[in-house]
Amino acid sequence: MKQKIVDLVESTKAKIDKAISAKELTDLKVEVLGKSGELTLILRGLKDLPEADRPIMGKVVNEARVALEKAIGSKIGELERKELNEKLMSERIDITIDNKRELGKIHPLNAIKRKAINFFVSMGFIVTDSPEIETTYYNFDMLNIPFDHPAREMQDTFFVTDKIILRTQTSSGQVRTMEKVKPPIKMISPGRVFRSDEADATHTPCFHQLEGLVVDKGITMCDLKGMLASFAKHFFSENSSVRFRPSHFPFTEPSVEVDASCPHCGGKGCNVCKGTGWIEILGAGMVNRRVLSGCGIDPDVYTGFAFGVGLDRITAICHGINDARVPFEGDIRFLKQF
Ligand code: DAH
Repeated sequence: MKQKIVDLVESTKAKIDKAISAKELTDLKVEVLGKSGELTLILRGLKDLPEADRPIMGKVVNEARVALEKAIGSKIGELERKELNEKLMSERIDITIDNKRELGKIHPLNAIKRKAINFFVSMGFIVTDSPEIETTYYNFDMLNIPFDHPAREMQDTFFVTDKIILRTQTSSGQVRTMEKVKPPIKMISPGRVFRSDEADATHTPCFHQLEGLVVDKGITMCDLKGMLASFAKHFFSENSSVRFRPSHFPFTEPSVEVDASCPHCGGKGCNVCKGTGWIEILGAGMVNRRVLSGCGIDPDVYTGFAFGVGLDRITAICHGINDARVPFEGDIRFLKQF
């Protein structure tokens, strides 16, 4: 019987060594030490031994049980630790590694805005800010846009209340400046403007303008044209030029639309300029006498010019963007190109 026990212990230990999962060992434990396990059966057989041998053999069986329980238990512990380690390693997140982070960039529209601001600041303009949520007083009344003007229609303007709107133009900033500062004035005011347009390839309900205003004694349209010609050269190329076309804005008199020679074809005519050689970049004019006097500036003493640049349009021209919606979408594939 003793030999049988020794053999069983040996063969069980070999199985323990070979086992590769905790489950295998729990099964082995049942097989050898369980209720009908091999060692348990041997223990039951003790009763058939001569009485004198029973305690000795009983001791051997017990020692074998203790030794096997210990061996199985420690191998299970070892395997469980190993399994846990493998799991932890495979699910590991190393929060200290950050070299995969992508660097951000300036949005093309902001890059153009900064380029424009730098140009005007280098010409001695100050940069002002003006509210996006504006009153009809600053956005319309003070800019000589009467109550029955179509720009005040619901389909053009986002109304918050009857008298509070989202500004439709940065021109409201002209009035806010002239109320506070007396000439000489040389300011720009860049920012977002809003019109209740359905978004399509040429319209977005939010877009960006850069307003400019110069008021002093003896300011003429020649000053406006000279400054805008330098602006076009700064933006597009040394060979760029501008042309004025008569237009109408209630807050300027006379008013003009300003075209720059097409930067893509140099004025020869291409699909960007629709064969004309020119592209419209802004509206401008001499500040209307009514606007000046409304702000307490004597129009017999002072004159001024004003202009409003469409920044989205300039960005589109510079980068060949043919859908106005795309710069607002935040699509990483678009932004990565700049
Ligand atoms: N505010 C005009 C617009 O949104 C643009 C504009 C035209 C601004 C003439 C001016 C200007 O300052 O003189 O269409």
